[in-house]
Amino acid sequence: MSVRIRMLFMVVLAAAFASAAAVAQEGRGDVIYVPTPQVAVDEMLRMARVGPKDFVIDLGSGDGRIVITAAQKFGARGFGVDLDTYLLKMARENAKQAGVADRVQFYERNLFETDLSQATVITSYLLPEMNERLRPKILALKPGTRVAAHDYDMGEWYPDEQKTLIVPEKTVGDPGKSYVFFWIVPALIAGEWESLIPVGGRGVIYEFDFDQSFQKVSGDVRADGKDVRLPLFNVRGDEVRFEVDVPQGAGMVKHRFEGRIKQDAIEGTVTIGAGQKPLKWTARLKKRGEMRMTALDATLGALR
Ligand SMILES: C[S@@+](CC[C@H](N)C(=O)[O-])C[C@H]1O[C@@H](n2cnc3c(N)ncnc32)[C@H](O)[C@@H]1O
Repeated sequence: MSVRIRMLFMVVLAAAFASAAAVAQEGRGDVIYVPTPQVAVDEMLRMARVGPKDFVIDLGSGDGRIVITAAQKFGARGFGVDLDTYLLKMARENAKQAGVADRVQFYERNLFETDLSQATVITSYLLPEMNERLRPKILALKPGTRVAAHDYDMGEWYPDEQKTLIVPEKTVGDPGKSYVFFWIVPALIAGEWESLIPVGGRGVIYEFDFDQSFQKVSGDVRADGKDVRLPLFNVRGDEVRFEVDVPQGAGMVKHRFEGRIKQDAIEGTVTIGAGQKPLKWTARLKKRGEMRMTALDATLGALR
């Protein structure tokens, strides 16, 4: 074979490989393959405060960059799932190259059928309708599980944090920009709770009725027979913190409640009045409520 013909042959072969790779790298399943820019990957993992104790699951892992970065830069472990065998092979190869193959795995698995219970952090770059389809499954995970997504949000479940990054090389979605979203799975607080709190030398019953829309909570408290509207507050994982002015004697006294939501109790402290010492506070669940799956604005309308 002459040098010219051999070179021509090599060019044709290279082109064939390139096009095969391009086809294989389009991804498989419910969304095509587009990688998250590295700067956005780093920000997602920073926002989710990923560390060595974390187990990260990337849903639709592409070339593996999110889970690999979580292991390489943040010391985490984890796995990615994808349906594209070419991308899975590439991800495993990239993990080896990055020296983290012992801490990350990549499985050929449908993300909608993946067991997420091991995750402390879930990441994704999926279409909005896929995020919404995943939402009930994510909300059923252990409270405090962190979720970071690129470019697309979770509909009515507003993010706890979000950032816009300028990424000049990005040509898809909103070109030149990456949107990074972060949520914490909230504990279920919706329902009726009761506590006995020592006030002025006697036990006073406080009855709480919490109305919850994802991490946003509103409702009422009935203290010593008087009803008070609770200001809107957030549940952060299993942590709850809110303040309310309760009528006592001739005036109103500020109560600051802080606690952790358990299965059927909230345990923490209440500080009654400025400069006072916190008292132990336990609320017992009387009647379990349901989390509203509607946006905050609609919820506020419904609550009034
Ligand atoms: C937009 S890419 C994101 C890749 C990677 N997470 C990143 O951010 O760089 C989406 C990936 O999801 C995969 N995918 C699509 N539908 C899927 C499904 N039902 N189960 C598993 N993977 C899926 C595609 O093959 C593709 O690699």
